[in-house]
Amino acid sequence: MIDLDQYIRDVPNFPSQGIMFKDITPLLADPNASASCVSMLAKSLREKRIDKVIGIEARGFFFGSRLAAELNVGFIPIRKKGKLPHKTLSQSYGLEYGEDQIEIHADSIQPGDSVVLHDDVLATGGTMEAAIKIVEKLGGEVVQCNFLLELSFLNGRDRIEKFSIHSLKQY
Ligand code: PRP
Repeated sequence: MIDLDQYIRDVPNFPSQGIMFKDITPLLADPNASASCVSMLAKSLREKRIDKVIGIEARGFFFGSRLAAELNVGFIPIRKKGKLPHKTLSQSYGLEYGEDQIEIHADSIQPGDSVVLHDDVLATGGTMEAAIKIVEKLGGEVVQCNFLLELSFLNGRDRIEKFSIHSLKQY
């Protein structure tokens, strides 16, 4: 068991004034701490039937793909609009100003697939809420929403409360 705090760097006023950014690059740079995180992310999933792990661009790719390998299942990327080359399904979601879209390959999930959604951070929950919608449109069943970090003061949990949520560290 590691103390994640030692590997998360607080960067004030990034990407804008007043925001305290949680930088996970020190964690990525440490092979033992990273491996320990993969193991902790997988812990509650080992006894469950999981068909796929879906990671959300971009920082959800770092540990999402490792989690998929740890569980010996396939990894599926959810990307921002216009990045995936084949036929996609899109879902829009609200940002502080305006909206954005995420996309998934339409053939990447089969109806009835049990999937884990992984992202680095749960903040307002808007991104994960959109990812859940896109998976459910394809007939997938969300077994767990899985995060490294949760910014509890932003109450992202409230938006996805119907689903199982697992985060390694809450702030
Ligand atoms: C960050 C983070 C999550 C999302 C969480 O991604 O990696 O995906 O925001 O915020 P929310 O809970 O308020 O939706 P960002 O859009 O900064 O993209 P990046 O991973 O490509 O840097």
